[in-house]
Amino acid sequence: MNIPDLNGKTALVTGASRGIGKAIAVALAKAGAHVLALARTSGALEELDDEIKAAGGNASLIPMDLIEGDNIERLAGALTERFEKLDILVLNAAILGELAPLPDIDPKVWKQTLDLNVTANWRLLRALDPILRKSDSGHVMFLTSAVGGEYARAFWGAYAVSKAALEMLAETYAEETKKSSLHISIVNPGATRTDMRALAMPGEDPMTLPAPEELTPMIYEALADKRTELKRYSFRQWRENGN
Ligand SMILES: NC(=O)c1ccc[n+]([C@@H]2O[C@H](COP(=O)([O-])OP(=O)(O)OC[C@H]3O[C@@H](n4cnc5c(N)ncnc54)[C@H](OP(=O)(O)O)[C@@H]3O)[C@@H](O)[C@H]2O)c1
Repeated sequence: MNIPDLNGKTALVTGASRGIGKAIAVALAKAGAHVLALARTSGALEELDDEIKAAGGNASLIPMDLIEGDNIERLAGALTERFEKLDILVLNAAILGELAPLPDIDPKVWKQTLDLNVTANWRLLRALDPILRKSDSGHVMFLTSAVGGEYARAFWGAYAVSKAALEMLAETYAEETKKSSLHISIVNPGATRTDMRALAMPGEDPMTLPAPEELTPMIYEALADKRTELKRYSFRQWRENGN
């Protein structure tokens, strides 16, 4: 596995308390980055901190709800004061919402899903864009799903619509930052052994799925990829390509 040298880099990972976000946070810390780990559950973030410290890395914990009030803008203000630049932003936190036919989805759940999976990510981009642009080679990574663009799946409406919107957010930001030092990637992890997947597919044996840590080499490759255009990574395709 080629591990990029992230010493001296600062990386914010949303949804870092478990699942894919936690695995990415550990991977970035092991590569030398100072990881800013954001999620709502303090206890789980503290466990992550222990794991990162045991691996010789370092992290700062941000226990925060991304859809509560003006948390994002206040966070950006604090990060701007404390750090001169932000090198990596991993937009990972998301919820599944409700798996139901479109007419049956509770409007509150629809709103919550779009608020977290789309609007919070736009607000993070909006608020953090100035310090991202201060990095000499910044990277913004968006976590998507196959239902966000590859195909439609009945009953996954709110989540699928949110991921399709997220992909367009990423594509638009990539166009707008074309001439900057920023790199933009869209990563589709595919079916992964996490709480979200178990919620979506309760009858599935989780042991048939890759663990989140198995994504690490592909995440490292995406971060090392310095092509200027928007980069897309799909774990399934990456595996099919012999990795
Ligand atoms: N697992 C899969 O099979 C799969 C497939 C395709 C795409 N993805 C995508 O991969 C990403 C990670 O998924 P996952 O399976 O690892 O999900 P997960 O296990 O459900 O983890 C979601 C993370 O988001 C955080 N979060 C949820 N609501 C939040 C809020 N309001 N504010 C701040 N943080 C919040 C959770 O932490 P707290 O609860 O502590 O806040 C948790 O750390 C998502 O974008 C997902 O759409 C997953």
